[in-house]
Amino acid sequence: MLTIAHFSDIHLGQDHRRDGGKRARRRAEQVMAYLDALPGPLDAVLVTGDLADHGLPTEYEQVAKVLHSRYPVLACPGNHDRRAPYREVLLGEAAGEGPINRLHRLSGADVLMLDSSIPGRDDGLLDEETLAWLDAALADGRPDLPALVAFHHPPAILHLPTVDRIRQYGEQALTAVLARHPRVAGLLCGHSHTGAATTLAGLPLLVAPGVVSTVTLPCEGGRGISFTQPPMLAFHVLDDEGRLTTHYRAVPAS
Ligand SMILES: [Fe+2]
Ligand SMILES: [Fe+2]
Repeated sequence: MLTIAHFSDIHLGQDHRRDGGKRARRRAEQVMAYLDALPGPLDAVLVTGDLADHGLPTEYEQVAKVLHSRYPVLACPGNHDRRAPYREVLLGEAAGEGPINRLHRLSGADVLMLDSSIPGRDDGLLDEETLAWLDAALADGRPDLPALVAFHHPPAILHLPTVDRIRQYGEQALTAVLARHPRVAGLLCGHSHTGAATTLAGLPLLVAPGVVSTVTLPCEGGRGISFTQPPMLAFHVLDDEGRLTTHYRAVPAS
């Protein structure tokens, strides 16, 4: 059995009311302190993109410091990230503009972190290179173990007008790959700044809350985004039968 903490959209560097990014950093640190204080253990901490608000190298220096944990931290880029500085500063690799896809072999499951960003755009897509990589990575190695597939943009409408138009498109191609790999237990994403659960291709599609802000439903009124709700996260429990159960938590102020 695995327990994975999952949050998203820390947007380090977001200048909220001219605070120079202090609020965004404080909220991300609040989440990390909460996880670090748990008796544990956790198997991993997942962060599904929009790590930086403007994709600046100085923001990734902050990301590297803030996302430090006693647990493995697995991440992928979002539409606010930029691939070259993400690679150089966070991964210590040469700058490059290709998608940033990673396979993490945890004991008990494979976690595949995919790059759904399209440079220069806010909507998302798993391009041909990424889908071919996913197909090969799922076929490679440990066929008896369940796999979780994570990316930034949800490949489905969540009934949030402001984010549905910048969702991940091309989900039919993703569905075709998933159909070849029954060991995938669930799909994890962020981008929508809301804790939500739906399905794609008969699999759970679980959306992590946004740490920096919460996008609200039309029935909740207001301007569609809240900066006063507390940061939240998800705990995903993957049991030995490959069944995924998710719990959502508000993170108390530290
Ligand atoms: Fe975001
Ligand atoms: Fe996003």
